[in-house]
Amino acid sequence: MDILKIDTKPFDNQKPGTGGLRKQTKIFMQKNFLENFIQSSISVRKNNGDKIDTWVIGGDGRYPGIQFLPKIIKLLVANGVKKIFVVGKELVAPTPAISNIIRKYNADGGFILSASHNPGGENGDFGIKVEMSNGGGAPESITNAIFEETKKIQTYLSLDISDEEALSLDEVEFLDPIKDYADLMESMFDFPAIRDWFRSGHTFRFDAMNASTGPTAIEIFVNRLEAKYDWILNAKPMPDFGGVHPEPNPTYASEIYDAMMEGVADFGCACDGDGDRNMILGKGFYVIPSDCLAVMTKYHKLIPYYKDGLLGVARSIPTSSAVDKVADKMGINVYNTPTGWKFFATLLDAKKINLCGEESFGQGGDYIREKDGIFAILFWLNILAKTGKSVAEIVKEIWSENGRIFYSQYSYEGVDKEKAEAIWEKMKTISIDGKMYGKFEIASKEVFDYKDPVTSEVSKAQGVQIFTTDGIRIFFRLSGTGTVGATMRLYIEKYEDNPEKFNLSAKDYLKDVYVLVDEILGISETFGPIEPSAVN
Ligand code: G1P
Ligand code: ZN
Repeated sequence: MDILKIDTKPFDNQKPGTGGLRKQTKIFMQKNFLENFIQSSISVRKNNGDKIDTWVIGGDGRYPGIQFLPKIIKLLVANGVKKIFVVGKELVAPTPAISNIIRKYNADGGFILSASHNPGGENGDFGIKVEMSNGGGAPESITNAIFEETKKIQTYLSLDISDEEALSLDEVEFLDPIKDYADLMESMFDFPAIRDWFRSGHTFRFDAMNASTGPTAIEIFVNRLEAKYDWILNAKPMPDFGGVHPEPNPTYASEIYDAMMEGVADFGCACDGDGDRNMILGKGFYVIPSDCLAVMTKYHKLIPYYKDGLLGVARSIPTSSAVDKVADKMGINVYNTPTGWKFFATLLDAKKINLCGEESFGQGGDYIREKDGIFAILFWLNILAKTGKSVAEIVKEIWSENGRIFYSQYSYEGVDKEKAEAIWEKMKTISIDGKMYGKFEIASKEVFDYKDPVTSEVSKAQGVQIFTTDGIRIFFRLSGTGTVGATMRLYIEKYEDNPEKFNLSAKDYLKDVYVLVDEILGISETFGPIEPSAVN
């Protein structure tokens, strides 16, 4: 087989963000765009002296992943990769199931062809997550090196064979990850208790949003747990997700959200495009992800996998401090990390934590190195089955024990990049300690720099944090996953111990705080009248 050395020219826009390289599909379709990024990623691993013998390629099934597959195979084999596991029928598999395969087969790395919860199709987004041998996303030291490499790449390697021949190379093996993943879940959770919960008449809905989790959900919930087949909604994976924006939150997953608010089932849930995110709903009750992590921490001993206790738990810094209140009472350590799952991975590897979560609809544990939607859903089913309580009862009990942390996340998606960056620069440098904004006084403002407690790697300016004297916490950062313009993210939390206020909606409760934040950041001043496009 002849190895080809193909000339190329660098692109200047291949900087990986929070979850890998994510761009509009059209950008990815440009000649050599894919090849440059894959070659640069492999070159970095080779230059590091890392082994690149075994590789995993997976994806959430989005267009045009399957067309890209033979090109990636040729490039990998030409670079010396000896074994490639291609995961999932038609390259459709949830990210957590792919992470599991990387770990189980001791692969040296992997590529996940996904733009997560971003819309797909020709006019949507595409992406590549660069995975390490631990089954988690590459750390910043690697992604920065990849970016440097993409700026100077001149050639990439390939093979002088057809796409068809690439798919039948001896090096290539196709794997269905569903059984391995379902077995793993069955080994962690109390499946008999969940089966009994269904048998005793409890009802369930799962929305796969036409994306990667449908077949896995059918295997786990229907085949193994005896849920009804028609409780699994939008279960057929489609390359463009049927035009759905596969992001499980009340805005984009409104079909299941509305049905659950009308009380269609006892428990409802949804996963995103690549199955690492989840949304949890009770009958007429929405659980914010920050409260989910608190619930999971409180009840972890009901889960067979966690029966011996937690080593520690971690939340990303924009996530509310609800989990801290639970963990403090239980004597469990809480770590705060920047946004992005890769920051949990080092803590998981070092056995400092074995449960973690982000406000952005993601929780997970130490059995893989990605967040995991189905894991979170099974965690809840296990709790419901063992406690006999409803979703709302479980969350409200935590509020009455610890007080309620009112929390909201506002996203301004696809806004003017220069303006958003100007606000970000201003917020990093502005000094407002002691300043009054209406009735609110600023206690302190700080830029959040992170030093990884395991690797000592420093990640600077991961957000700006503002505290008021009456205990409000505001966090502000720019998104690292958007593909058009810039996305500003705002996170607000406020502690309340008056039970009479617990039933207010977070939106109403935080209304005047939101006005304050607008004023401090100068959002309306900069953009004119503007509404956040997503409020969770
Ligand atoms: C977003 C979320 C973040 C999550 C990431 C990947 O990143 O905020 O918590 O890890 O997606 O799912 P962002 O767009 O804010 O950079
Ligand atoms: Zn995702």
